[in-house]
Amino acid sequence: MKTLLLLLILIPLIYTLNLNSDAEKKARELLSKMTLEEKLEMVKGHGTQPYVGMTPENKRLNIPPLNMEDGPQGVADGVHFSTCWPSALTVVSTWDVNLMYKWAAAMAQEQFKKGTNVMLGPMVNIARVPHGGRNFESFGEDPVLASAMVGPYVKGVQSQNVIANVKHFVNNNQEIDRNTVSANVDDRTQWEVYYPAFQAAIDAGVGSVMCSYNKINTTWACENEKTLGDLKNKLNLRGWVMSDWGATHSTVKAANAGLDQEMPDDKYFGKPLVEAINKGEVTKERLDDMVYRMLLPMQEIGLFDNRPTGNLSVDTRSQEHSELARILSESSHILLKNDNRFLPLNDSYQSIAVIGYAAHDKLTIAGGGSGHVIPESTVSPLDGIKKKFTSSNVQYANGNDLQSAVYLAKTSQVAIVVVEVGSSEGDDRRDLKLPNNQDTLVFAICSAQPNCVVVLHVVGSVVMPWIKLAKSVITATMPGQQAGEALANILYGDVNPSGRLPITYTQNEKDIPVNSQKQWPGVDLQSDYSEQLLVGYRWYDTNKKDPLFAFGHGLSYSDFQYINFKTERNGDNLKLKVDIKNLSPRDGHEVVQIYLGFPKDVNEPVQQLKGFVKVFVKAGETVHVEHELTPRDFSIWDVVNQKYSVVLGQYNIRIGSSSRDVRVAKAIKY
Ligand SMILES: *[C@@H]1O[C@H](CO)[C@@H](O)[C@H](O)[C@H]1NC(C)=O
Ligand SMILES: *[C@@H]1O[C@H](CO)[C@@H](O)[C@H](O)[C@H]1NC(C)=O
Ligand SMILES: *[C@@H]1O[C@H](CO)[C@@H](O)[C@H](O)[C@H]1NC(C)=O
Repeated sequence: MKTLLLLLILIPLIYTLNLNSDAEKKARELLSKMTLEEKLEMVKGHGTQPYVGMTPENKRLNIPPLNMEDGPQGVADGVHFSTCWPSALTVVSTWDVNLMYKWAAAMAQEQFKKGTNVMLGPMVNIARVPHGGRNFESFGEDPVLASAMVGPYVKGVQSQNVIANVKHFVNNNQEIDRNTVSANVDDRTQWEVYYPAFQAAIDAGVGSVMCSYNKINTTWACENEKTLGDLKNKLNLRGWVMSDWGATHSTVKAANAGLDQEMPDDKYFGKPLVEAINKGEVTKERLDDMVYRMLLPMQEIGLFDNRPTGNLSVDTRSQEHSELARILSESSHILLKNDNRFLPLNDSYQSIAVIGYAAHDKLTIAGGGSGHVIPESTVSPLDGIKKKFTSSNVQYANGNDLQSAVYLAKTSQVAIVVVEVGSSEGDDRRDLKLPNNQDTLVFAICSAQPNCVVVLHVVGSVVMPWIKLAKSVITATMPGQQAGEALANILYGDVNPSGRLPITYTQNEKDIPVNSQKQWPGVDLQSDYSEQLLVGYRWYDTNKKDPLFAFGHGLSYSDFQYINFKTERNGDNLKLKVDIKNLSPRDGHEVVQIYLGFPKDVNEPVQQLKGFVKVFVKAGETVHVEHELTPRDFSIWDVVNQKYSVVLGQYNIRIGSSSRDVRVAKAIKY
């Protein structure tokens, strides 16, 4: 009996000691040696030169500096000589977790070479508003897709001794009035739609979080006790919270709500914080907590042992990174439409017309704002097509002169029209149309030449009034510096398209989940999230509206058949098994998507993505796919008990190639 008792006491004790890792010990030791002044130096900003955010080195204690630079898709914000990758939303369109990791590691490697050890990304605000200016940086409209992709991103970045910074916490889902608007969101929606990607980043070990510009329920995000409390106490962030640049609005309130570092200056966490501590309005323990939360990830992620020596002028481009940029772009091209299997093209076409300023004269291959990466060397769609189709006569018209562009299209055997619309931090698009008369251009070209391929460099939804005239439509999203090479490889069939939409494309301006002023951009600076859980495709499905192209959609040059669908209980998990057969003579990737329909009485969307598997299937072969659903997948957020709770009952499981292309389905009891 006594030994048992001793064991009962000892086991938890040993367990606690184990958790108290080396990094924790070192961080605590260091903290205990720091003076009050040294601690205060760390929690405030020190300007924006040369890095966009900085805390200086502590020479006495040998604490490395924190050099923060904009991501989240390269070394951004006015910095030269780095790789201009496809944007995050573009890479998310690959639905490939391995590529996501490789990309993040490569980006962070460039950051580190430029002296950065904190990279300001990933940006995981759900693409709630189709017009959203920062959607290009986002992980799409679905929390499960975003969560699955953000873990590898965080791990990739932090594998390079660079701390990732997941942002913007939280509900920074629009750019119009972002500095003043209040996002009014109910608790269940918050937990089921907007928190999960942050949770996934934290579970992957992210070192820091950035709180956002906006208010939530009328309280600033960087002094919001509820959201910052959730972040630290329920999502279990162990690292620190820094403010977005200029998003701090108070000293005592912010410090006590959970803000750990003001960026980029010291208006509130400089002298005013000293005074607040002297007066006892902010405790010394709270200051210790702020500093500890910084030291811990610095220890864990290896910043003490790997000090950056580079500077922002270092040229970090390489052949290897150009190739990876091309592969990322190829894997994220989404074939939206392909009548009569018009694509891929082959050498039998002797003349190809490439049309549109976006094909060469003015490229839109990257988003704008702090996340803008300067493309130093690019392969335009025209360059890429010319290089690939060597036995064809490739000619270009930028479309400024409509008549000559139409003439060129008519006298060629194929017309490839490239159109664009920019996406940038600081503003949302005001409508979903293509700007600069590009709709007129597409109408004219596709009317003159039935072999008409439209290529979109756009972020998410654009309306396509000419859709019936186009034989094939491809979206490259924001394809990055190797845009033209990737496109040519897709057009020629060297690469079989495998990207899938991470965002729904609407038929028209009105049929969108945020279709009232009150929802977006808000009335009297109040933006009501009254669509609740019905974000993106969930709204279309539940309201029985047909999108133009559904979430998860993307065609392949191959055909896949789904066979032998089985479910099997594995403890509390449900194992799903299905075989994917490639019926075509061409190797290809299929993205097997798993959607779940909840029992009717719990008020969930008609169906929700719960998992996906991207598989490579050789021509004529069959690959076995398995995925396990966990109790969390069968849960909803219980507002009263403040936890996820399992719903028992009748479920519909649908597995298919998009949210609207269900191949096998089953009703099951859970
Ligand atoms: C905002 O208000 C809603 C409705 O009262 C509530 O459910 C939610 O928890 C609040 N969130 C915050 C962050 O205050
Ligand atoms: C930046 O680093 C490069 C390469 O190490 C070096 O040649 C250059 O002098 C450095 N520039 C500055 C301003 O330190
Ligand atoms: C090339 O494409 C055309 C049109 O799709 C097709 O008719 C022809 O058979 C193809 N030629 C080769 C060699 O594949």
